[in-house]
Amino acid sequence: MSKYVLVLVICSIPFSACMRKNVCKTIEDYRTIEHNPNCWYNPDVGASPAEIIKGHGYPFESYEVVTKDGYIVTLFRVPHNGTNFGAKKPVVFLQHGMAVDSSCYLYLGEKSSVFVFANNGYDVWLSNSRGTKYSSKHNKYSVYDPAYWNFSFHEMAIYDLPAMLEFIIKMTGQTGHIHYIGHSMGTTISYIYSSLMPQHAKRSLRTIVSLAPVAFLDHVSPLVRAIVPFRYLIWDFFASLGLYGVGPNVQFKLDIVLQMCARYPFILICSNLGDLAGTNQAENRASTLPVSAAAQLSGISLKTLLHYAQIIDARGRFQYFDYGPYNRKIYNSTLPPEYPIYKIKIPVYLFYGRRDLLATEKDVYHLYEKLKTEKRIMEVFNFGHNNFLSGLHALDLYQMILKLIQ
Ligand SMILES: *[C@@H]1O[C@H](CO)[C@@H](O)[C@H](O)[C@H]1NC(C)=O
Ligand SMILES: *[C@@H]1O[C@H](CO)[C@@H](O)[C@H](O)[C@H]1NC(C)=O
Ligand SMILES: *[C@@H]1O[C@H](CO)[C@@H](O)[C@H](O)[C@H]1NC(C)=O
Repeated sequence: MSKYVLVLVICSIPFSACMRKNVCKTIEDYRTIEHNPNCWYNPDVGASPAEIIKGHGYPFESYEVVTKDGYIVTLFRVPHNGTNFGAKKPVVFLQHGMAVDSSCYLYLGEKSSVFVFANNGYDVWLSNSRGTKYSSKHNKYSVYDPAYWNFSFHEMAIYDLPAMLEFIIKMTGQTGHIHYIGHSMGTTISYIYSSLMPQHAKRSLRTIVSLAPVAFLDHVSPLVRAIVPFRYLIWDFFASLGLYGVGPNVQFKLDIVLQMCARYPFILICSNLGDLAGTNQAENRASTLPVSAAAQLSGISLKTLLHYAQIIDARGRFQYFDYGPYNRKIYNSTLPPEYPIYKIKIPVYLFYGRRDLLATEKDVYHLYEKLKTEKRIMEVFNFGHNNFLSGLHALDLYQMILKLIQ
C-alpha cells in the first residue's frame, strides 16, 4: 500500500500526529511551524519516487535491467499523464547527478520536470545509476563487498547507460529518438558514453541536453580545489574503515540525518551545505528545501569522488581513471587517456548557471570548444549548481527544453 493511502487513512482520524506540517513558505516561518498558517503538510517530504509519482496521480512503472558487468539497475517510467495514453510518444530520459537518484527530478511537486514532460506528451524514463538507493544489486556482489563499489561515472557510462537505453528501445520500439537530459554527473556520463560508443549513441539518442555540464574541471571553487591534494589520504582513511562507498549499507543512518535536515533549524545548515556548489539564494524556495534535503545522498562510490578529484587536478584533461603506476599496464601509457569527445555525433545543448561553482562558465566554454558535433550554448541562467533542479525559475528552463526538443 502506498504511503499516500496510509497517510490518507490515518489522517482522517482527528488530531493525529501524522499530518504534522513539514514545509513553510519562508525560512522564517519554520520557526513557528506548528501554528503558522504559512506552513502545511507536504507528503513528498521523505517519499520515494514511486510514492511521489503515484501520489500526484501519475502512472508509475519500474524495471530492472542487468548490465554487462553484472549490476542490476532500476529504471522508473511515467509513460503518460493518466489521460494522454495511446499513440507512440517521444522518449525523454532523465539522468541524475552525483550522490542523488531519480528523485532529484521530483522536488517541485506537480511542477516537477517529470510531470511537465508527461503533460506535454512525453514518455518519461528515469535512470537510477549503480550504487544509488534503487539500484544496489549485483549478480555476484552485495553492497557490503568492496568489489561492488569498484566503479565511477565511467562504468555508469559504458555499462549502465547502454543497458538502460537498449531496454527502453526494446520497450518503445524507438530507435535513435531518445532525448537525453542530464544534470551534473548526468552530463559527464552522456559525454563518456557518446564519445566511447558513438555508434551505439547514434542508434539511441536524438539529443543530449546538459544542465550544469561537467567535463573539464579547471575552474571549480577554491574550496573544492583545496580538498583535491588530500584525495589519496582521504581514500586511505575510508578504505582503512572498509568504506568504499556510501549506499544502502549505511542508508538507514543517512536517513536519520536527512530527516533532521528536513527540519528547522537544521534545514539552514543542510541547505547551506548544498550551496557550497554555488547558489543563487533568490532561487531557493523555502517550501521545497525539506523535499530535496530528505532525498539527497542516495549512494556514491569513493572511486567516483576520486575520479572527479583526479580530473580537477589533471589541468585541462577530461580523462579516464588514473591508476598511477598501473596506467602503463591498463592503458599502455603513463597518463590515463582523455575521453575523445570530438567523436560525439549527437547534438549537444549546454545550459549553465552563472553562479555555479562546479560547472563554471570557463569550463563549459572549454567543453564547447572541444565538441565537434552540432552544439549550442543555450540560455545562461542565474543559477547555482542545484538551482537547475529546484530553482524558482526551473519551470522556465523546462519550457525551454520542451521548445528545443519539439
Ligand atoms: C495530459 O496530457 C495532455 C496531452 O499531452 C494534455 O492535454 C493534458 O492537459 C495533460 N493533463 C494535465 C493534467 O496536465
Ligand atoms: C577494479 O576494476 C578495475 C578495472 O575495471 C580492475 O582492474 C581492478 O582489478 C578492480 N579492483 C578490484 C579491487 O576489484
Ligand atoms: C603501446 O604504445 C606504444 C607507443 O605509444 C605503441 O608503439 C605500442 O604498439 C602500444 N602497445 C600496445 C599493446 O597497444
